[in-house]
Amino acid sequence: MCGIIGYLGSSDSKKVLLEGLTHLEYRGYDSAGIAIREKDRVDVFRVEGRIKSLEEKLASKQFSGTVGIGHTRWATHGAPSELNAHPHRVGAITLVHNGIIENYSEHKDTLVGMGRKISSETDSEIAAHLFDLEAQAGRKLEEAIPRVMSQLRGSYAFVIMSDFEPDILAGVRNGAPLLIGVGEKEHFLASDIQAVLHRTNQIIFLQDGQFALCKRDKVTIKTAEGDRVQPDISSIDWTSEQMDKLGYPHYMLKEIFEQSQAAANTIDGNIDHRDGIVSIRELGSLLTLLPKLKRLCIVACGTARHAGIVGKYYVERLAQMPVEVDFGSEFRYRDPILDQETLLILISQSGETADTLAALREGKRKGVPTLSICNVRGSTLSRESDVVLHTNAGPEIGVASTKAFTTQLVVLYMLAIQLGKLRGTLKKDKAVEFTRELLHLPLLIERVLGTEPEIEAIARKYYSRPFFFYMGRGIYYPIALEGALKLKEISYIHAEGYPSGELKHGPIALVDTDTVTVSIAPRASNGVVDTLFEKQISNLLEVKARKGSIVSIGTEGDLRLREYSDQLISIPRTSWGLSPILATMPVQLLAYHIAVLRQTDVDKPRNLAKSVTVE
Ligand code: AGP
Repeated sequence: MCGIIGYLGSSDSKKVLLEGLTHLEYRGYDSAGIAIREKDRVDVFRVEGRIKSLEEKLASKQFSGTVGIGHTRWATHGAPSELNAHPHRVGAITLVHNGIIENYSEHKDTLVGMGRKISSETDSEIAAHLFDLEAQAGRKLEEAIPRVMSQLRGSYAFVIMSDFEPDILAGVRNGAPLLIGVGEKEHFLASDIQAVLHRTNQIIFLQDGQFALCKRDKVTIKTAEGDRVQPDISSIDWTSEQMDKLGYPHYMLKEIFEQSQAAANTIDGNIDHRDGIVSIRELGSLLTLLPKLKRLCIVACGTARHAGIVGKYYVERLAQMPVEVDFGSEFRYRDPILDQETLLILISQSGETADTLAALREGKRKGVPTLSICNVRGSTLSRESDVVLHTNAGPEIGVASTKAFTTQLVVLYMLAIQLGKLRGTLKKDKAVEFTRELLHLPLLIERVLGTEPEIEAIARKYYSRPFFFYMGRGIYYPIALEGALKLKEISYIHAEGYPSGELKHGPIALVDTDTVTVSIAPRASNGVVDTLFEKQISNLLEVKARKGSIVSIGTEGDLRLREYSDQLISIPRTSWGLSPILATMPVQLLAYHIAVLRQTDVDKPRNLAKSVTVE
């Protein structure tokens, strides 16, 4: 998944493009480049590596050009290299691309057969050749773009400059995000809002199958079929300081500490204060359908899927409704059994994850109602779902998802309470009690975040260990999965999450004096989970007997747990529903501080990207 940007206006395009790319770098950072149209030429500069290397390369260069495009890459076709970096310049066309052209090799064979020289290993360059064939045949972009779109299969967002139309910047969207920032006699094209928000908050979200022809004073939007589309401008209320780190060393740490506010913003507006019970305002048309539903099917990827598993525990306990959870990358290939009494729920921070979008489209193809839980307004997922419940976490820049995850849990918990009440499986007094406790969540999160110094000390003790287990029972099992993923993706230490009872069926063979086992064992205030607590203690002792180090996450004042554990991170005693949310901050902070001690790139870990918009 890559970041693309374009600018057409009267400002210094080098400055605008580099600024924008800096905000897009979390989308991929194998290589980067910009192209700037000067009076009689287009200058292209590309580097392998980060935007910083590109800035160094351009530091001594001045440009008069006020039109240009830029790109930061996460390699799909072709290794990370200057040759494969974008922009690609072919004949009269200069282009940047995000996505995957699935049928690029057949076009490549045809182009080579025509005698065209292919200089890179990328699918993007092939697209540039196809656009250049149109330009050389005398067709303007307005006619050429639909013709090329009809030849391509796969996902793509392009920003294109043509030497024959120097006052037009074209954007094409099909399966990868692209938006237009509308300024004063200037326009921006970008993959994400983050790249343009410091310049304008007037945004047009292009939709799949559309292309835009931007001039300084107007934008023409058309569909691939040639129909004109009236531009729909949204005002985005994210302030630019939300983009900055507010003094934190990393976006990830800032976002961990934003979770109290993020939870509050997500709860806000979803409580009916007349009866003191959750009432999700965005449910809309689905509200009448909910009582008739017999089953939920939750599909997501990575951290979002872990949230889905917590959601399963919530809904099955409070609403007595069966819930299935699946991987986005598996769901559509198993011909899932879906019917009108099934609600398909998609969870995604970015709303652009290709596998999750494909699951959505599979559900729509099978005619089932779809609800998404998403953090980015205007994203593909939020626009294509029947109903979208937004996690109001604000922009999440760190590749490792943190505040999006906990606000996904908040939304799932609210949904479970409302479903339980609608179905009569949750008594009114319980619904009121759980809602009241939910309103205390932001304060409880603040308390857990206050344990950071102890967690940093634990990280200092164990950051060089080669292997971690995370184990939890019941609703803490998905938190174990999440803790393991956090550690893996930012510290590069191998870690595995398991249901605690599963270790003795093989994995415990890995336990030795080098192993660290994080045991997630809070006691919930309603006692239900405490029956599992005793079993968790037995599993902890099994590990201890094999000389493994134990880091427990438990309830404040739990002396027994302290006795059995080498290290203890305490969280406030709270209800069953909120306890997994509070147990999440410790595993996030442990992973963060271990990664910092191991000097990895916490916000942009190797091999990863913030939103995986390719299959
Ligand atoms: C989480 O820390 C990872 N960055 C990754 O697993 C992520 O959750 C996954 O790619 C799904 O992304 P989404 O929520 O934007 O769909």
